[in-house]
This record gives sequence, C-alpha cells and structure tokens, in this order.
Amino acid sequence: MDKVRVGIIGAGKIARNHAKVGFPAAKAEVVAAADINEAALNALGDEFGIAQRYTDWKDLVARDDIDAVSVALPPFLHAPATLDALKAGKHVLCEKPMSCTVAEAEAMVQAAKEADRKLMVYYRRRLLNATQKAKAIIESGALGTVYFARTAGYRFRGRPNIDMKNLSPWFNDPAKAGGGVLFDLGGYALDQLCYLLGWPALKSVCAQTYREIDREATEKRGFNVDEFVVGMIRFRNGATAWLEGASAVNMDPRQAGGTKLFGDKAGLDAGSMTLYKPDAEGQMQAETIDVPPQEQGANHSAICVEFVNAILKDRPLTVCTGEEGLYVQRILCGMQESAEKGCEVEV
Ligand SMILES: NC(=O)c1ccc[n+]([C@@H]2O[C@H](COP(=O)([O-])OP(=O)(O)OC[C@H]3O[C@@H](n4cnc5c(N)ncnc54)[C@H](O)[C@@H]3O)[C@@H](O)[C@H]2O)c1
Repeated sequence: MDKVRVGIIGAGKIARNHAKVGFPAAKAEVVAAADINEAALNALGDEFGIAQRYTDWKDLVARDDIDAVSVALPPFLHAPATLDALKAGKHVLCEKPMSCTVAEAEAMVQAAKEADRKLMVYYRRRLLNATQKAKAIIESGALGTVYFARTAGYRFRGRPNIDMKNLSPWFNDPAKAGGGVLFDLGGYALDQLCYLLGWPALKSVCAQTYREIDREATEKRGFNVDEFVVGMIRFRNGATAWLEGASAVNMDPRQAGGTKLFGDKAGLDAGSMTLYKPDAEGQMQAETIDVPPQEQGANHSAICVEFVNAILKDRPLTVCTGEEGLYVQRILCGMQESAEKGCEVEV
C-alpha cells in the first residue's frame, strides 16, 4: 500500500480539522464522509472535494476501497461506529473521549485485536513537543522516583454551547457526551499525565464534580454536566496524581498550574518547562528547558501522521493506542462513579 484511503465519520467541527490539517499532513486521501445531517455532510464534502457521501456510516465502512476511518462523532457513538468499522476491516482513529463507558472501550480494544487493525485515540496533547521533551527528561531519570503528579486546567467561562457558542449542544447532555469537563478536558489532561508517568498500574480513584455557577440559568439552557472536577488517583506503586479541571470557575485560568511532576531528585513543571532541583548548598535551582518550537495545531496533524504511517509501514502505533485510551477511560469512569457515590472506587 502506498497511500491510505480514509473515510471520515461525522462531518462536524472537528472533522473539518481532520480533512483540512490532519490527513493532508499525513498524505492520506480522504475519499468518503458520513453524517446523518446532509447539510453538514455536503458542506464538508464540497469544501474538501469528498465525492463519496453517506448518511449511514455502515454504507461507508462497507466500501472495499477504504483502508481507515476517523470517527468524529459525539462520544456515545464512538463505540458503535468504531466496532462497525473494525468489523469491516478498517483501521480506526477515534476522537476523544474514547467512549462513554469502560465496557465500550474494552469492546473496542478487543475488536481491534480480533480484526488485527489499528485503533488510535485522538488525545492530541501527547504529541506536543513539550510533552515529548518532558517524557524524555523523566525517562532519563533526572527526576528520580516520581511520587506525585498533578494536572490542572481551567476555562474561566468555557462551557460548550453556553459560553462557547461554536460547540454543539450534545456536549451538555450526559447521555451523549458521557460527562462534562471531566470527560472533555479531563481526558486530554489524564492521557498526558499518565503517559508521562509511564502508565503505572491503577489502584483506585476518588473525585468530586460540581455544577455551581449560574446553575439555574444554565440548566434552563440545557447544561446538565459537570463544570468543575477535582480528583485523585492512587497507583499500585504508591504514587498519586491529582486532577483539577474547570469549564467555568471564578479563578484565573493562568494560575491553574498545568502539569507538574514531583520526583525525589527533581521536580518538573511541564507547562513552563522548568526543572527544579537543589544545588550543592541545598538551595533551589530552576533550569528552563528548551523545547523545539511547534506550529500551533501541529500536534493535531502529528496524530494523523502517526496513524497513517503505522498503517503504511504495518507497524504498531507508538502513541495513543486503544489500550492507552482504555486506561484513561477507566480513570474517567471511575472518577465519575466516585463523584456519584461519594467514595473512593477501585479501578
Ligand atoms: N481532538 C480534539 O481536539 C477535539 C476537539 C473538539 C472535539 N473533539 C471531539 O470530536 C468529537 C466530535 O466533536 P465535534 O465538536 O466535531 O462535534 P459536532 O457536533 O460538531 O459534530 C458531530 C457530527 O456528528 C454527526 N452525527 C451525529 N449523530 C450521527 C449519526 N448517528 N450518524 C452520523 N453522523 C452523526 C452530527 O450531525 C455532527 O455533524 C467529539 O468526541 C469531541 O469530543 C475533539
């Protein structure tokens, strides 16, 4: 195979990014698209010259001349579309979050194994140059044993379809989105954090979610998901990690703090890319780490490039595998369960 032929399932906002940036960068050919909304389907098809258009993704995956699909649907449809595509022998690049439940994510991983096809999850923070640099520093042993990590990101007012008008209403329906900020922004953050930690075996999680700001008014506008999450993960190796995420909060997002790793030899602020360690006198030394510049959005295309190259070279994916997506899904769903039950849950 010298070219990968792709079908895009879902013709909404992020699908445009796949068609415009990701697959062209990967030198793949987008030959088909599917969406139940014909206007959206035709808009995407016309803009990117996609000739084959379907209102049912089953017709798209049935085509013999398509090697792979990207699934750019709301989360509750990620599993059904992915399973149909894998069963039809297509490789799948699935948008985040991988699914709404752990059982769905497990079924996706199992189906990929059975079909011997690639399954990749679009957690694009992974291919930021800063994330890659942080990973190299951790692997060099410079931090020593990392016993704690934390990740925190806020939007001051960034609730989909409430404050951010360009996003679809399904983001605020738990049955379609799986959850609110935990599933949406928490997925990226946890994927990055657990990648940096090397996917240690999970023990338990504990979390609380909130929907407090303008609650009555936003509920009337269909906002029915969490807007703030705080959670902790216990790993079997004794390390812990902390997550804080907000799509609305009365705090300065610039002070949320980003991702930080605490080791016994040094600590790394993976946002400012600063390494903290003691000098010979035990005083704090702060070393700024150089990160190669990266064009905005380049991590988007890097995901598609990796997906397509793995197919062309018939080699395993190096990042964002289905198994890693499943690991993140266990945390997301565990945190959601913990918040509902008000107690720590095993994962
Ligand atoms: N990786 C990223 O940076 C990023 C950014 C934004 C969104 N996302 C994710 O991408 C996915 C899609 O988000 P979006 O903002 O593009 O949503 P969107 O609402 O703009 O697009 C979803 C499309 O799916 C279509 N659809 C719904 N039900 C369908 C069905 N049964 N069959 C076929 N088509 C159907 C809709 O008509 C719509 O066009 C979500 O999982 C979201 O979390 C990822």
